[in-house]
Amino acid sequence: MDKSATTIFASKLARFTRVGLANLPTPLEPLKRLSEYLGGPRLWVKLEEATGLGFGGNKLRKLDYVLHEALESKVDTLVSGGVVQSNSQRQVAAAAAKLGLECHLVVYHGRLDPPTPEYETSGNAFLNRVFGAKLHDSPWTGDRNRAIQELGERLREDGRSPYVVPYGVSNALGAVAYSTAVVEIAEQSRELGFEPAAIVHGSGSAGTQAGLVVGASVCLPRTRIVGIDIDAEPERVRSDVVRYAKAAADLLLLLADWGNPYGAADLLDLLAAWGPCACNPMAVVLSLPEELDDACLSQADWDDFVDKMQNGTEEEKENYLCWMIHYLDHCNKCTCTHIPMCPGPDPFS
Ligand SMILES: Cc1ncc(COP(=O)(O)O)c(C=O)c1O
Repeated sequence: MDKSATTIFASKLARFTRVGLANLPTPLEPLKRLSEYLGGPRLWVKLEEATGLGFGGNKLRKLDYVLHEALESKVDTLVSGGVVQSNSQRQVAAAAAKLGLECHLVVYHGRLDPPTPEYETSGNAFLNRVFGAKLHDSPWTGDRNRAIQELGERLREDGRSPYVVPYGVSNALGAVAYSTAVVEIAEQSRELGFEPAAIVHGSGSAGTQAGLVVGASVCLPRTRIVGIDIDAEPERVRSDVVRYAKAAADLLLLLADWGNPYGAADLLDLLAAWGPCACNPMAVVLSLPEELDDACLSQADWDDFVDKMQNGTEEEKENYLCWMIHYLDHCNKCTCTHIPMCPGPDPFS
């Protein structure tokens, strides 16, 4: 790990201002029980739900920078959207409430299973209302941003001054924002005495992975960035990751040669292997296989994960950094208590 590279990258990030919505850095913890259960791979978790505001999540890291741009433009309304019970909507709604902005959210119906009877009073749909957002139901057409843009235009015609937050808060600036996570991981893992072989995380609207790729290309060039496609659209996810990563690298004034041996074309190698999996990884960590149903993770998904951990390459097994972020809308079903922290410099010893 090159400490000076991380310092240089951090200085490039310093040109961007964040609002201060997210509690950063988020903790990096050992997954001692899961490592033991799997027979040895050293697993770690970066707790992105600990970003704080509105029950946290990965979108706050992006919103922190993207909404600085919104505030500079003196807007009075945030407009965004997502599928039913999306985590992104909830974080936009919470940020708008904190910043004193009106919030309008498109809720796409038809992509996921129809809402359950308790939909209105549970999970993110409920929290969106608690945070004061106005919800606009819309059929899913496959175009993630069109209905959000159109809602923004209608609000402008009505005299509002809206700022459109893209689906998943994914764009070039969102990816720049997410690269800050790699600076944190580089520093935290150095202090803990390991170098992650891979960072594994969910990938959907692609800004998270794009940011991780750009950050890792400089700060952790030997670390693989492995996206698990949560949208079952690997080609679309792959091209969006590459597009946002390149745009973010431009914003950061990085040279085109990122020096990552796992170049952009290889980034989503494991997507097909892992397949779509809308899982609650934290619940997996916390409850282990007995409660797979509650974790919304199928036995096949779990078996696949165990197989990779037990039969993967030595490099994969060693210091596999699992990037796992919980799905709030499933949390009402599981009892979330954090695994005990391991004191000492080497928690696995
Ligand atoms: C918990 C969680 N992890 C990962 C992702 C993927 O992030 P991105 O949309 O930036 O690809 C999402 C997005 O919905 C998410 O909710």
